[in-house]
Amino acid sequence: MKTLLLVDSTHHHNTEKVGRAMAEVLNAIVSKQKLIADHQALRIKLQAKGFILVDEFCCLGFNTNSFLKYFGGMNKGRPNEEDLQNTKRFAETLKARF
Ligand SMILES: Cc1cc2nc3c(=O)[nH]c(=O)nc-3n(C[C@H](O)[C@H](O)[C@H](O)COP(=O)(O)O)c2cc1C
Repeated sequence: MKTLLLVDSTHHHNTEKVGRAMAEVLNAIVSKQKLIADHQALRIKLQAKGFILVDEFCCLGFNTNSFLKYFGGMNKGRPNEEDLQNTKRFAETLKARF
């Protein structure tokens, strides 16, 4: 099965790091796209179009949005190596299912 991974990652490459870890396991092609920043809004849009969400993965990511930048940001260093290992484990479960 061929897999195309669409990644929307604009601020600190958080999502891109996770996407590339997933792509490694799934042997997927990664394409960077401008999608919808809000995860919940994206989920609703996809489901409204008839897409079936088979699973979801999330982890913390470095965030310097708004006032956070004045305090050095939130979740510095995330996703970290452990997050990326969890990502790969998640991708393995997906691969086993499809
Ligand atoms: C509407 C919206 C705006 C955001 N703006 C920023 C921003 O300006 N800077 C930032 O570091 N994170 C921002 N975030 C948080 C990012 O979604 C978060 O850092 C996430 O891990 C994605 O990071 P990435 O763009 O590096 O992949 C925003 C989130 C939302 C929902």
